[in-house]
This record gives sequence, structure tokens and C-alpha cells, in this order.
Amino acid sequence: MEAFKVEKSGPLKGDVYVPGAKNSVLKLMAASIMAEGTTTLTNVPNILDVEIMAELLRRLGCQVKYDPANSTLVIEVPEKIGHKADYDLVRKMRASISVLGPLVARCFEADIALPGGDAIGSRGLDIHLQGLEKLGCDVHSEHGYLIVRAENGLAGTNIALDFPSVGATENVVMAATLAKGTSTIENVAREPEIVDLCNMLVKMGAKINGIGSSILEITGVEKLNPTTHDVVPDRIVAGTWAIAAAITQGDITIHGVRPNDMELVLEKLRDTGAEIKSVEDRLHVTMNQRPKAVDIVTLPYPGFPTDLQPQMITLNAIAHGSSMVTENLFEARFRFVNELARLGADVKINGHHCLVRGIANLSGAPVEGTDVRAGASLVLAGLVAEGTTFVHEVHHVDRGYSNFVENLQNLGARVSRVQL
Ligand code: EPU
Repeated sequence: MEAFKVEKSGPLKGDVYVPGAKNSVLKLMAASIMAEGTTTLTNVPNILDVEIMAELLRRLGCQVKYDPANSTLVIEVPEKIGHKADYDLVRKMRASISVLGPLVARCFEADIALPGGDAIGSRGLDIHLQGLEKLGCDVHSEHGYLIVRAENGLAGTNIALDFPSVGATENVVMAATLAKGTSTIENVAREPEIVDLCNMLVKMGAKINGIGSSILEITGVEKLNPTTHDVVPDRIVAGTWAIAAAITQGDITIHGVRPNDMELVLEKLRDTGAEIKSVEDRLHVTMNQRPKAVDIVTLPYPGFPTDLQPQMITLNAIAHGSSMVTENLFEARFRFVNELARLGADVKINGHHCLVRGIANLSGAPVEGTDVRAGASLVLAGLVAEGTTFVHEVHHVDRGYSNFVENLQNLGARVSRVQL
């Protein structure tokens, strides 16, 4: 069993580089299977989820090679691909469901094991499936698999999503790019990772209007072509480093970011007392005081991202004052709060609200990272807790943060990966 051993450290100082976004690259990899030939992705993070998605694509018949030295992933897609995603992979990573749209678009059939993935609440697939049904798919489940068929092909239509779900938007958009005729999809998610996917699809030959807005108009084309694409920077990893600077009263320069994708996050951090300068693709975050507590409400983009909520609860836990954090996306994300309480945090949950009363010092203890962001946040908490903190279930962190421990050590943190 591996764990992160974290000792109380001084302010984190230095430079850190942000790779491409996990939540984009996985979908770009899925999109690649819609075009026969060689797709090349650059700025690809060296994380476990990319490995899992690579394995899934291999099982569909693709050849996938990752070169960590230049962060490049090359995917060779054959003329004929399989249409089945097995449970052993899908249960490891819920984002496996992103191959659903591309598979029905390319093969008119997909058998996908019903997903597991992060323990952050029951995440339905109803919005994905309603959208695909509107495009002409027949959907039922059998022996733990979703069986999706489009025997008469896909046909463009008007679709209004019940909620701007990231995954549903991606699946429906990918399927619509190869449907016959025009689709209008309303209430789509607008995350920078969705824009990145749409931009790559356009390079592949897709016709998409309204990219970045909440209504997309997609005119289906007969065929997509492989392309080369640079993955958008990971705003959640960048945000995690910015919050780390604020929590430890440090001074970190974060390279390779797109500050415009992080406006609300940076605004909130400024409210905590952090000084933030952004120059081109760099953010310089300095904190010279104990942070001030700030209220947070998570919402789809451009609202505050749920993927930075645990990190902000951690900041609020050691801040001056009290705050209310409201989680609107994934109720079970608050499981992390019980772990933070083991470090002494004064936190109370009421439904989807968490009241945090800031205290001066946390105290180290063994804790469990319940998902990728919870794990990273507990490490940040450990950096400002008296004594030693052991964060268990590190594989969650490895799913989304490349070289997490090495990056922290370079910034002066007393963190190591240990075998227990
Ligand atoms: N939902 C439904 N029905 C659906 C789809 C979604 O009810 O058919 C609900 C979910 O239960 C949830 C909400 O809608 O309450 C939002 O879900 P969404 O579909 O937007 O999220 P997702 O596509 O499953 C992606 C990211 C998450 C991130 C969310 C929100 C990937 C691989 N995952 O998940 O990232 O939190 O969008 O921004 O892109 C993470 O990186 O830590 C992570 C969990």
C-alpha cells in the first residue's frame, strides 16, 4: 500500500509547470477513433487516466504510444475498430464513457460496461442517452452493459440538454459531427475542455458553430480526418498550485496556463488576500498573510469549478473567519470533509452546504483521499498541519496529477511517497 507522507512545511516557493488537462485529453483521445489514420496529441499529461484510456483504445484495435519525454501521444486508428468497452477498464475510469458518442458515430454500435469511477456521487447517464436517442440511437442495458445501436444511422435534430453536463455535451457533440444533417444542441456545457474538443473536431473536418456558447449548431459531415492537436492547459492543476501558494503563504510561479480560463478562481483567491500577477502563460501567486475565508458556490463553467472545491475548503479551514461552501455538482464530494475533520478542521455539513470555521492550526493524522481532488487537497492540508500526515489511496491523485510529489518537493514541500 502506498501513501503520501506529509510533514509540516514552510511556504512553498519556486516554479511549477502545468501540463495539458486530464479532462480534455481523455475526450480528445476518444474523438480520435472517429478518424482512420494517425492522430497526434501534444502537451499530454503523464497520468494514470491517460494510460487507462490508451488501453481502452488498444482494445478497440488502435495502436497507442506515449512519449513522456516530449508529452506526445500518437494514436493509430485502423479502418475497422471494435465497439466494446469492458468493465475492467470502465470501472477504473468513468471517463471511458466518452467513447460512446464516437463509437456510435463511427460504427453505429457500442457496448459499454456501466461505469464506476470516482467515488463522488451517483452520476447518471440519462442526459447522454437522451441526446443519443434523439440522434437515432436505440439504447438498452443487458448483463451490466449499455447496448447502443443506430441501425439506420444518425440523423441531425434539435436537442436541449436538461443540464449542461460536461460528459453528455461531449458525447452528443461527437456523435452529431458524423450524423446526417444539422443538429442544434442547447444548454451545452461551456468548459474550456469542451471548447478544446470542439476545436480539435473542427480541425478534423467537423462543422460546428457557436463554440464556447451554450448553443452549438453542428452540420454532420461524411468523414473526419486525423489531426495534430495541443491539449489545453489544466486549469484545475494550475488552480491547485495557486491555492497551495495561498495556503502555505508561499510564492509560486505557475507556467503554461491560460489565465482567462480561471477568472473566477483567481478572483476568489485575490479575495483571500493573495497577490496574483498574470503575464502571458504564467501566473505568479504570492501570499503574505494568513488567508481570509471566502464563500464558494460550485457551478458549471464559468462558475466556480467543483474540481477546486476541496482545495478551497482546505484553505478556508486554516483561514481567518468563517465561510460557506456550496456544492451543486457532486454531493458526495463532501466525503472529503470528514477526512479534513480528522486533521482538526472545524467543518459542518448541512445538505450541500459546508460551514467552515477557520482555525489557526491543523494537526497531522492518517487520512484517506476519497477522489483525485480530495487526495491532493489533503496533501495541501498536511503541509500546514503540525506533525505528520499520511494520505492513503494515492492512486486517486496519480489519476490526475503528473509528478505531484516531485513538483511539491521542488517547491520545498516535505512530502514523500512511502510503502506501508
Ligand atoms: N448528470 C446527470 N445525468 C447525466 C450526466 C450528468 O444527472 O447524464 C449529473 C451528474 O450526476 C452531476 C452533474 O450532472 O451531478 C455534472 O456532471 P457532468 O456530466 O457535468 O460531469 P462529468 O462529465 O461526469 C466532468 C469531469 C469531472 C468534473 C465534472 C464537472 C471528466 C473526465 N470529468 O465529469 O472531473 O468534476 O465534469 O465539471 O471530464 C475531476 O477531474 O476530479 C472530475 C471529477
